[in-house]
Amino acid sequence: MQIILLYYYIRHPYNFDKMYNKNNKNNNLLNLKNKISKNKKIVLAPMAGITDGKFCKKYKNLFAIVCIGAYDLDKDSQIASEKIVNRGRKEFLYNLDEFDNIIQQNIMDAKESGAPVSVNVRFKDINKSIDKIKTILQHSDIFELNCHCRQKEITDLGIGQELLKKENNRILKNNLKIINKINNELSGQLNGQLHGSSTPIFLKIRANFISSNELINNLNNVKDYFDGLHIDCFYPNKNCADLDYLMDLRNNFKDKIIIGNNSVNSINDAKNMLKYCDFVSVARCILRDNIEWIKEINNKTEKYIY
Ligand SMILES: Cc1cc2nc3c(=O)[nH]c(=O)nc-3n(C[C@H](O)[C@H](O)[C@H](O)COP(=O)(O)O)c2cc1C
Repeated sequence: MQIILLYYYIRHPYNFDKMYNKNNKNNNLLNLKNKISKNKKIVLAPMAGITDGKFCKKYKNLFAIVCIGAYDLDKDSQIASEKIVNRGRKEFLYNLDEFDNIIQQNIMDAKESGAPVSVNVRFKDINKSIDKIKTILQHSDIFELNCHCRQKEITDLGIGQELLKKENNRILKNNLKIINKINNELSGQLNGQLHGSSTPIFLKIRANFISSNELINNLNNVKDYFDGLHIDCFYPNKNCADLDYLMDLRNNFKDKIIIGNNSVNSINDAKNMLKYCDFVSVARCILRDNIEWIKEINNKTEKYIY
């Protein structure tokens, strides 16, 4: 038995940790994994003002996961988005009072892609966002907190990538604690008892805003409150992903699902990134309609990965 386990560990070092660390979080991840087609490794990354339910449902059976959003959950973040739109960038603008219907419809449409749906969100004040968080947790397959946005109107609120900084770690922790509490209450997981599965919580983060060591320290403080990391391996002044940064995070968060991202445009790019993550996501290459390689990798993934 030990020899079999050792062999499994050598071939699947990350899956091993997930398999043998049995807790509620891992049940969430197991449920998510069951929803993802086994041969699919490519995720649609969120693009504000673009990736809504209608956009996702154009891509049937192409992606492992589709991300919609970013959606604003409170007035401050929505005002920031209005300012961003006024200077010519796309954002999703809507009446916040109608959010419940809007998000449910978008999740339903996105599910027509055949993939589980992740909802990328931003908010300034969690107390004004609780009802909307509840709705997302009830209807989505992944709740993705945006710690990535670098638009000034958003960072001026102390959110987006600002949440990665040490001085904002307390706010990030508080927000994640509340999201987890709602999640557990919704799934009936109280007093450590598992009655149902809850929705996995992911953080969308950006590399090189702070050093990988600093980020790892800050994320270690909140590691009990998230299940996955969606990492834009942004490499300043380079046209490629920073895979060393991704590797540092992979090595430090072996029990989390990791989606790597940035500048993946081909099977080769995806294969290189998949050495350090479970999935890779793509954004701009979809806008350029560069999707043939994804169909190809879906057909061949078993050969490449397993
Ligand atoms: C037009 C556009 C809008 C984006 N909006 C969001 C967003 O709302 N939330 C987010 O987490 N990332 C957003 N991103 C970042 C992408 O998800 C992705 O991390 C980035 O584009 C790098 O991946 P790529 O090289 O495949 O494009 C956006 C990217 C683009 C191009």
